[in-house]
Amino acid sequence: MNKTVQLNSQQSTLIVCLNPMPEILYWGERLEPLNEQELVQFQLMTERGLMQARIDEDVPLSLCPELGRANFGSPGLEAHREGKSWAPQFIYDSHQINAQTLSIKCQDIVASIELQIALTLDDDSSVLAKSIKVINRDSTPLTVNKLALTFPLPYQANQVMSFHGRWSRELQSQRVRLDHGQFIQENRRGRTSHEYFPSCLIGEENFSEEKGDVWGFHLAWSGNHAWKAEVKSDGRRLMQAGELLLPGEVILKQNESYQTPTLYIAHSRSGINGLRTKFHPFIRQHLIRFDRHKVRPVHLNTWEGIYFDHNPSYLSEMISEAAKIGVERFIIDDGWFKGRNNDKAALGDWLVDKNKYPQGLTPLIKQVNELGMEFGLWVEPEMFNPDSDLFRTHPEWLLASEGYSAVTGRNQYVLDLQNSECFDYLYSALNQILSDHHIGYLKWDMNREIVQASHLGRAAVNGQTQALYKFLSKLNQSHPEVEIESCSSGGGRMDFEILRYACRFWTSDCNDALERQTIQRNMSIFFPPELMGAHIGPEKSHTTRRRHDIHFRGITALFGHMGVELDPVAESESEKQAFKHYIELHKQFRPLLHSGQSFFLDSRDHSRHAYGVFDKQQTLVAIAQLAMPEYMLMEPLKLGMLESDGDYRVSMVHFPHSSRGLMKRQPDWTQEQTIVVKGCWLKNVGLSLPILDPESAMLIHIEKSH
Ligand code: GLA
Repeated sequence: MNKTVQLNSQQSTLIVCLNPMPEILYWGERLEPLNEQELVQFQLMTERGLMQARIDEDVPLSLCPELGRANFGSPGLEAHREGKSWAPQFIYDSHQINAQTLSIKCQDIVASIELQIALTLDDDSSVLAKSIKVINRDSTPLTVNKLALTFPLPYQANQVMSFHGRWSRELQSQRVRLDHGQFIQENRRGRTSHEYFPSCLIGEENFSEEKGDVWGFHLAWSGNHAWKAEVKSDGRRLMQAGELLLPGEVILKQNESYQTPTLYIAHSRSGINGLRTKFHPFIRQHLIRFDRHKVRPVHLNTWEGIYFDHNPSYLSEMISEAAKIGVERFIIDDGWFKGRNNDKAALGDWLVDKNKYPQGLTPLIKQVNELGMEFGLWVEPEMFNPDSDLFRTHPEWLLASEGYSAVTGRNQYVLDLQNSECFDYLYSALNQILSDHHIGYLKWDMNREIVQASHLGRAAVNGQTQALYKFLSKLNQSHPEVEIESCSSGGGRMDFEILRYACRFWTSDCNDALERQTIQRNMSIFFPPELMGAHIGPEKSHTTRRRHDIHFRGITALFGHMGVELDPVAESESEKQAFKHYIELHKQFRPLLHSGQSFFLDSRDHSRHAYGVFDKQQTLVAIAQLAMPEYMLMEPLKLGMLESDGDYRVSMVHFPHSSRGLMKRQPDWTQEQTIVVKGCWLKNVGLSLPILDPESAMLIHIEKSH
């Protein structure tokens, strides 16, 4: 008889048949623990028949599908020993269940390859984590071309939502029907990348924010990756994801192993919102590294305010103005170090520029601290410019392939972090900066893609990524008080693994509120608001040249880890008062925004975004109109998550004056301070809303009335 095991969380059940190769029979809503007799019946119920014109054995869609077992779809492992042992066939060997983790060992004794599969079902959130380790048990080296994580999907999962983007336009989504064949996304850019976010959603047709069966996947890895959704000709379907290994990148000697990144999976029966309710608590409980009691300070980042034009007395004025508008962390961006007057030179020379800062940074840091703010600094440690003392002294630290001329990206080269001398130099340079100054935060940037990365002649993206993790971990250990932000030309390195070392993402270099609405909507599927850097930029966006009033900018930035990205000295008094207002509003709602549950509502008018955050007491809702409204009246606001029998006080926090042009008269309730309504009315009938102008937003607060 086949051996079957079961893992339960508070809300879900995983049933795995272990032999001949482990296969997931079920993962879904929690079932009562099955006794032995029930397990036999369960297996009988799920056992497949044999297909005509196929081989004469059933082929499981296992946790690591094998070509050698006649699994003609995408194999989990592709490896060989100098051309041999190329079609392994594994057999279940043993397993262990430790708390919420099922560990399974499988062997191919002919090819001398061992697999160790780990599945962890988080008890609270029901997020499932999967990883596999392959071990070479033979004296001949084993070349691993691919080791991917396979996850079977039920038949109703026939629509894929994938995420693509580019600089200043991260996290755009598209939907593809999944009937036959494969949908594939591959990232070879050497970082998580703007282009292909290592995540996807696969669900039943037309799954939406609020409705439908949907599975969310995230591969926790900051290097190259590939994932695919596949339908086999028998109709079975799967998602498969893993690191995209470059030729020769992983060659295992005897008893050496290669471990995949972790694939995190969540399932929802209530659309994308149900994934938010799983991924966000999971990240909060397991991945966030900052102290949950420390509020996320409001930032002022100097980049779009002054770029490379650093002058300490002017910065001192900026610091005073920042404090007046309520900023809590002041960050000096690029341009502070020796010879850094533009983006063509000086990366790698991590010494304060004495021409710009004759007194060093300390007097400014002192001023920042005296005004009750934290100080932060921009760095880009993984890089050097050809025009830098570091490159002139150590050209051999370049991460490149010998014999070819290395290509620059943003005028810079990548440093080989696997070179221990280079690693040590960089570490001591950063350690020095952090030891000499009172710094609470580093904006850690990474501004280019990696091309022909070789270490000792062999492909090195995996090694570089691991070395970066090692570097960050060492820095985290020696400076636990310093928070690191993961920035990569905006959102080029946002993933669950970098979160083990970083406390915030710089979501995008685009601060245009209209673009941000879409970027942040998709980011919020995977990450809670407190990780999402969201800044109010100048009225005229630096990346799109569009203009937006302060309310659209303010409401858009409100729902993240908020900041401002401008020069407050140069701004008008009315703009400054408005920044102050939105910063105060953010601080007022910050406890809710950074611990509550995020949601997004379905709208028949696709140019309307209705979203918010709620907890047991209150809900803050933003309605943003991205284009001319589809209809002359706005769809009422229905909030399904409220309690039916409670009374709620509803108030309009902000309604844009300009929108009054589109309406003769707004709904009467918006003229009142607050109205009190029943939860079941808001759930089932809906709150009437005024229409909005394109590119404007309103903010509504709903609070339980006692
Ligand atoms: C990148 C970042 C920006 C800014 C610049 C500085 O583009 O994404 O926010 O820090 O580098 O050079």
